[in-house]
Amino acid sequence: MSKRKGIILAGGLGSRLHPLTDVSSKQLLPVYDKPMIYYPLSILMQLGMKDILIISSPEDLPRFKSLLGSGTKWGINLSFKMQKKPNGIAEALILGKNFLKENPSCLILGDNLFFGEKLISKLKIANRDILNASVLTYPVNDPGRYGILEKKNNKPYKIIEKPSKPKSNKAITGIYFYPKNVSLEAKKLKPSKRRELEISDLNQTYLLKEKLSVTELDKKSTWLDCGTFESLLNASNFVSKIQNKQNKKVACLEEIAYKNNWISKKHIKAIIKVSTSSYGNYLNKIIN
Ligand code: DAU
Repeated sequence: MSKRKGIILAGGLGSRLHPLTDVSSKQLLPVYDKPMIYYPLSILMQLGMKDILIISSPEDLPRFKSLLGSGTKWGINLSFKMQKKPNGIAEALILGKNFLKENPSCLILGDNLFFGEKLISKLKIANRDILNASVLTYPVNDPGRYGILEKKNNKPYKIIEKPSKPKSNKAITGIYFYPKNVSLEAKKLKPSKRRELEISDLNQTYLLKEKLSVTELDKKSTWLDCGTFESLLNASNFVSKIQNKQNKKVACLEEIAYKNNWISKKHIKAIIKVSTSSYGNYLNKIIN
């Protein structure tokens, strides 16, 4: 049976976060107590994906390799691929062609954070449909910054990237599910005016073929992208607040891997031995 594979896109210039990103990748910046990329990685792991490709720039890819390694510490298989230039989000699916082979995929942006049990169950539903593409929308106050879903007769009608006159506030979030052969569809795209292969154009092709399902999230779920100083701070504050309130960590990869039966107690104990931060104490609580 074909198994969905994950791709995390973690390149780009991070220019909106200068000077924080002058010598560090945006997706390696801390979001409270973990590197940003842990959060999208935790989502793919919660959806049961074990084969995951990390795509980043020539400068940053080695840093991801040294942080994450082969993935065996979480019982997963990580591969790495370079994106020479930020040619657009949809290019990730072309770069991932050999990795994906005939499998369905899930692409997630390395700076997108998703929280909430209801949200995870909606993602699980999207994950199960391997014949269609799926996206999720979230209501935003500044629709001109996102890919926006327009509806006609209450049905998804058009997806427009950063519209100058937005007709709705439903932003397409940075997690995208595709059936097999998405690389072939992505290859057919032409660069936009800003010379990028737009993920919104790819989603629009599935919409036109009536092969795109759209799930509308409401404010009970939390979706944050960490592209600006304000949103990065919000994300850290959110994680700190929720972890204190629930006495439980968000995006603890060892915990997810342990619950998925991908790593053993012995394995976690070995990690605890080298961890002197409160992260180690937390892992200790999980296995006891
Ligand atoms: O966050 C959701 C939004 O993400 C969607 O609503 C939009 O449709 C989608 O285009 C995207 O918009 P952004 O303006 O946030 O895209 P940005 O160029 O900031 O790229 C998002 C992430 O992907 C960022 O962490 C950098 C990375 N990236 C981007 C491009 C264009 C790459 O690694 N390579 C690229 O070529």
